[in-house]
Amino acid sequence: MNSLVKEASRAGESVGLTVDRLAIDGGIPLKGRIEVRGAKNLVTKAMVASLLGETPSLLRSVPDISDVRVVRGLLEVHGVTVTEGAEPGDLILDPTNVRSAHMADIDAHAGSSRIPILFCGPLLHQLGEAFIPDLGGCRIGDRPIDFHLDALRRFGAVVDKLPSGIRITAPHGLRGAHIELPYPSVGATEQVLLTATRAKGITELRNAAIEPEIMDLIAILQKMGAIISVEPNRVILIEGVDKLDGYTHRAIFDRNEAASWASAALATGGDVFVGGAKQEHMMTFLNIFRKVGGKFDIYDDGIRFYHPGTPLKPVVVETDVHPGFMTDWQQPLIVALTQAEGASIVHETVYENRFGFTDALIEMGADITVHKTGLVGTARRVPRRDLEQAAVVVGPTPLHGADIVVPDLRGGFSHLIAALTAEGRSTVSNVGIISRGYENFLAKLEALGARFTVEG
Ligand code: EPZ
Repeated sequence: MNSLVKEASRAGESVGLTVDRLAIDGGIPLKGRIEVRGAKNLVTKAMVASLLGETPSLLRSVPDISDVRVVRGLLEVHGVTVTEGAEPGDLILDPTNVRSAHMADIDAHAGSSRIPILFCGPLLHQLGEAFIPDLGGCRIGDRPIDFHLDALRRFGAVVDKLPSGIRITAPHGLRGAHIELPYPSVGATEQVLLTATRAKGITELRNAAIEPEIMDLIAILQKMGAIISVEPNRVILIEGVDKLDGYTHRAIFDRNEAASWASAALATGGDVFVGGAKQEHMMTFLNIFRKVGGKFDIYDDGIRFYHPGTPLKPVVVETDVHPGFMTDWQQPLIVALTQAEGASIVHETVYENRFGFTDALIEMGADITVHKTGLVGTARRVPRRDLEQAAVVVGPTPLHGADIVVPDLRGGFSHLIAALTAEGRSTVSNVGIISRGYENFLAKLEALGARFTVEG
């Protein structure tokens, strides 16, 4: 085991937070067991939800990833006390001294996260105002926040554009609203949930996102005292209440991380047990995994994903909102598709620039063609901006080592998988981004038999 990884693992530190470059010797099947904890895309929002409570909250199974550290910093600049609880992964969040924060402090802590936009509703309820810096996040499209701001205005908020961000106030308080989202946006749905729970009156949200992480956030809000009902056809009704209390909640597992390790097992011809993974939230992924030729066994404490030794098969996949195939799953899967016998098509319909990571795979020998406006003749699922893109992946193509730079979180993990799949040595730089969403990923790679050295 790398001394740095060994030392840090002993200290329980997430080594990935500080590492920049790895040298990876590929061609070795990943085999062994790793554990996934709380979902990055739930725990960060659950931490923000604690702001709405009059008493402290306890969030369990929180992974040590940089996105969590960013939100912890943002909560602390707003006067929230965040401390570790009794069990590993427990966070105690005490909002009783919440206060306004200066934009510069918020900006300094926001990093590349998009989470600050979700502070609006809770801060408007608690303090009557919120400051949000211009947002970061992976460069996978222009990532607008128009749905969020339109929703806040419908609750009665006033949005003022400042040179370095936005200032939001609620001069007459926040009232329940009728909101229909142009697209089932995860973030905008969370924005409405976090604002409506304490608004006066009833909110009806139409065309809402219903991802498992959204349902887990609704469960948290219900524990706090909120009255939320999920109706048929993506309609959510929220009856505003005057007061909410803190919650105790164990976060849903990270489906994206589980799918990433599953794709790594397939691409490297390996056999990986992902502890904590649950079938009910991965059904669509499991169907595609099986159609590509992978095998999986479901256990009470996790899922075993493995390559059965027979040739992988090409598939046609369209990313979609839940319960469709998640956009965050296509990057790791595409690496496995480079080893399938035939031509696969991946339609990306959620973001307008989410195939950038394929450049590095092509450099390593993959045969991938990205069609920036999708494939001619295919119906567009969502009549929005000219959004859909398509990647045609023809395999099998042996991958050879290369020097690659990680572009974003999910694409970055795909680069790791590609380097582990390729024959020979690769260097992967800028890997620190991966620690935004993958807890202790170096220790996990070690546990699965990957051969790599930390280069800086
Ligand atoms: C969340 O992003 C996740 N991030 C993303 O995961 C995930 O890919 C995405 O949902 C879709 O499932 C977090 O939860 C932190 P959206 P979010 O609002 O909320 C457009 C990862 O790797 N849109 O559902 O930002 C937007 O441009 C990340 O873990 C607007 O046009 O996603 C995109 O095309 C990557 N206006 C589409 O909607 C808005 O105001 C979906 O975005 C908001 C969104």
